Amino acid sequence: MVMKQQPDQSSSLQDIWGFSCFLETLCKDGFYHEVTTTTKPVGPTVTYHDKEYINFASINVLNTHQEPDVMKHFLQAAKQYGLVTGGSRVTQGVSSAHKEMEEELTRITGKERSISFASGLLANIGFINAMTCKFDFSSTCGINNSDAVFVLDRDCHWSLWKAASHLEFGKQLFPFRHNDPKHLEILLKRLSKTHKKIVVVFESIYSADGSIAPMKELLDACEKYGAISYVDNANGFMFYGPEQRLFSEEFKQMNRATFVMVSFSKAVGMEGGAISGPKDMITMFELLSGTSLFTAAIQPPTASTITYILHKLEKHPEIMDQYLERSLKLRQVLEEKHFRLNDTPSYIISVIIGNDKKAVKVYEACLENNIMVGMFRYPAVKPGHALIRIMMNAGQTDEQLQCLIAFLEKMKDTYKF
Ligand SMILES: Cc1ncc(COP(=O)(O)O)c(C=O)c1O
Repeated sequence: MVMKQQPDQSSSLQDIWGFSCFLETLCKDGFYHEVTTTTKPVGPTVTYHDKEYINFASINVLNTHQEPDVMKHFLQAAKQYGLVTGGSRVTQGVSSAHKEMEEELTRITGKERSISFASGLLANIGFINAMTCKFDFSSTCGINNSDAVFVLDRDCHWSLWKAASHLEFGKQLFPFRHNDPKHLEILLKRLSKTHKKIVVVFESIYSADGSIAPMKELLDACEKYGAISYVDNANGFMFYGPEQRLFSEEFKQMNRATFVMVSFSKAVGMEGGAISGPKDMITMFELLSGTSLFTAAIQPPTASTITYILHKLEKHPEIMDQYLERSLKLRQVLEEKHFRLNDTPSYIISVIIGNDKKAVKVYEACLENNIMVGMFRYPAVKPGHALIRIMMNAGQTDEQLQCLIAFLEKMKDTYKF
């Protein structure tokens, strides 16, 4: 039997909690747009309620998931492994597809072992849980890492800050200025006098502004003061590293990091996340992360397809080379047309609008003109630094890119940014 909700009871309850009032204000100020519902596969274009948009908002930009061989592999894997593992890793186990995927990742990252999670976000939360846990199985079997201190780049992803929020700020948890090794070094110098367990966390490439960490200097500081390092490589995985690509010097440094975290929802284009690192610590993350023990794993056909895509991308580095070259060209054209862009020429292109209200107007005008972009404003970015984020999709035609450029030029004239 379905219980009918009394409308007046529901709204008065929500009023007590402040949700209705919050929603109303957000809508009025243009902060909230109803989440769009897609009715066809997402790729170079995206369809919402039968209206097609050129899609510059999705993060699986290589479009791997739409390729016929990948689809075929997924369907075969669904038949071979079934759709689900049926429970969490520790209670139910994982499929051989998971093991194979984790072994491939271990080989690619050059670490000792890897563990996968249902998402990159869960990997991050699980890492901080495990590294700060205090737990006794019996009087002789336990672990106590409640004396660990964490030093995070100020611009780290929400999942990292959220996971660390149980730590006392200024005592166990310290932010360092974004991509600033000197500031990190000052903190580590001080903390290493009183603490043995220090974890430094930063990202390889930051998703709002596309900036890239000065990995050599950050890892130098970690090594100098005996700190463990955790690099969230969600956005860089499979894109950057090889010699012929930009930033190869930085990304090569990842060999020195204690842990590397990846997401499979970006270059790989599927869903899931993983951490690679020292064998015993990774093994214990099964129990101590919480986000492995208390939830289900990646679905087996997805795990198998991730391995398939990893092999494909490794065998065909030109997929990434061509994508990065085209996205760099798009950036150059925007620069020539005097748009204000983020400083780092990574594949994440941000057009800086500045004023929040203008950014909302530009975003809404893009939608009206069948162009889907990402929009970041305070608190996602610093006040006065609102931006439109363009994630070019590998399947987009030159005409579709021209359409974006022409429309943004029109917006620039109208809103003077
Ligand atoms: C830096 C960073 N870490 C972690 C995540 C979470 O990854 P996932 O989508 O696999 O949960 C993201 C995704 O936006 C990210 O940008």
